Amino acid sequence: MKKITHAVIPVAGFGTRMLPLSKSVPKELLPLGNRPAIHYVVEEAIAAGIKHIVLVGHAQKSAIENYFDINAELDNQLRNKGKDALADSLNWLPEDVTVSMIRQGKALGLGHAVLAARPIIGDHNFAVLLPDVVLDPFANDMHKDNLAFMLTAFANNDHSQILVDKVADSEVHKYGIAKLSDRSHDVSDINKADVNASFQVAGFVEKPSLADAPSRLAVVGRYVFSNKIFDYLANTTASVGGEIQLTDAIDALISQHGVDVTTMVGDSYDAGDMRSYMQAFVYFAQQQLAPDE
Ligand code: G1P
Repeated sequence: MKKITHAVIPVAGFGTRMLPLSKSVPKELLPLGNRPAIHYVVEEAIAAGIKHIVLVGHAQKSAIENYFDINAELDNQLRNKGKDALADSLNWLPEDVTVSMIRQGKALGLGHAVLAARPIIGDHNFAVLLPDVVLDPFANDMHKDNLAFMLTAFANNDHSQILVDKVADSEVHKYGIAKLSDRSHDVSDINKADVNASFQVAGFVEKPSLADAPSRLAVVGRYVFSNKIFDYLANTTASVGGEIQLTDAIDALISQHGVDVTTMVGDSYDAGDMRSYMQAFVYFAQQQLAPDE
């Protein structure tokens, strides 16, 4: 089995939950501590072994692409002033990693955004990372936990992997919710374990009411897909919210191919929601400030 080296990061959302901050700054570039939120998501992908990252955005998101490019003018100016260390710190992206951007064209939903990356991804299997979700980089070992675990699991059994975490009853309507094949895996078993676990899933329901929720296991925003998902996405029509949902294509994929859920370890932060973003900012800043500052 060939290693997965490609990842898609959809960045086309308007960030309405983050207004007014996101009016003229892409929400993905808002800071968590001393870095933009998307910096941690790209670092997570790289730590897991990803080499080609495709951002799916639109005209107002080009500042994100610039963040991952070298700013030659700034670089020259810093080096002319002898600030080489600072200049080096800006060029942190490893030389064997590429970040490219493609435009979604129409805002037709997450499934449509992932499909927009097909011309660059080609025949490769790939990961998807939703940048609203930032996994705690301080407590996790990104070289083996979560996404890295999912990539290894895929390499071992060829099953697409969907990261899930337990959420409170009041939260289920915000997420894709897993329908488990084996009820014994539900709620009582899946606590905050300190190792990832992966097992087969029967399906997903996108943003159900509490009454319709088949479990409390929510899709966190990290996926590892067989390339076949593209065919299913191409045949997916708009559903919940009038959008082409990734969840629907996953459900179709399940009927023909193996799909597992991977339970998450550590904490995740929703950087696309104002309240949770502010809590995340405080946590990241606390981690980065020296104790005596
Ligand atoms: C998307 C997915 C949903 C998932 C969520 C995670 O929803 O459609 O299944 O649980 O991301 O953040 P969105 O938050 O884009 O509405």
